[in-house]
Amino acid sequence: MTANEIRDSFKKYFESKGHAIVPSAPMVVKGDPTLMFTNAGMNQFKDIFLGNAPRKYPRAADTQKCLRVSGKHNDLEEVGHDTYHHTMFEMLGNWSFGDYFKQGAIDAAWEYLVSILHLNPEDLYVTVFEGDEKEGLARDEEAAKFWRKHVPEDHIINGNKHDNFWEMGDTGPCGPCSEIHIDLRSDEERKAIPGTELVNKDHPQVIEIWNLVFMQFNRKADQSLEPLPAKVIDTGMGFERLCMALQGKTSNYDTDVFTPMIDKIAALSGKQYGEDHKVDVAMRVIADHI
Ligand code: SER
Repeated sequence: MTANEIRDSFKKYFESKGHAIVPSAPMVVKGDPTLMFTNAGMNQFKDIFLGNAPRKYPRAADTQKCLRVSGKHNDLEEVGHDTYHHTMFEMLGNWSFGDYFKQGAIDAAWEYLVSILHLNPEDLYVTVFEGDEKEGLARDEEAAKFWRKHVPEDHIINGNKHDNFWEMGDTGPCGPCSEIHIDLRSDEERKAIPGTELVNKDHPQVIEIWNLVFMQFNRKADQSLEPLPAKVIDTGMGFERLCMALQGKTSNYDTDVFTPMIDKIAALSGKQYGEDHKVDVAMRVIADHI
């Protein structure tokens, strides 16, 4: 599938499940002093999450252009040096505003990846929030239970507050999350080290593709957690990473999202991509920034 076909299939799938398809919000955030640039698909819905604005639809989906170059979510140092972080990227997301919750989000994500896109379930691992004593939060047994319907126990991995409790910023909506990771390594590499040992270990071929956030709290300025007026689903999938997985590549820059740009940079600079590590990093940085 081409990148355009992948984007369309995501919207089509969630539209068929009763989601309103909404446009990407502008990347420069207006009217929210806590955030300069859009860092997640949920930003445009923040006021609905907090109960400050009425919901316009019970379910929505979109592809949101995000910029993670400052503040709580900042990937700038990784860009170009690795093959799967970007300054600007697209986030495919679906939302439920007090409609379906954990089970609906988990079942839909699984159906889309496995039945629609035909990713091999054996390559997929999921994480659940292990709980946090300081916050007074228990392990997310509910999410683990819903995942057991789809994956064997050894594909369900506990994650700590850093990886499995998503927060928009220092204040604002937040909640435990479950991430879906994919193992893109060769059979030989998998035999040597099982994928389960490499989840959340910065391996470039064992990476998170989709984050399902079970939004339940508002983090206040005094750092306390206040329950949201309604439980909300907020998911975000890395579009460029999904393209990598579906196009059988091992780098986002080898997908058709980036190859036209890399080819042009090569033509203009007279340098070949893939010959010299330092040059490759520079070419990836330029492609990303463009
Ligand atoms: N807000 C979550 C994230 O950015 C899920 O969309 O990862």
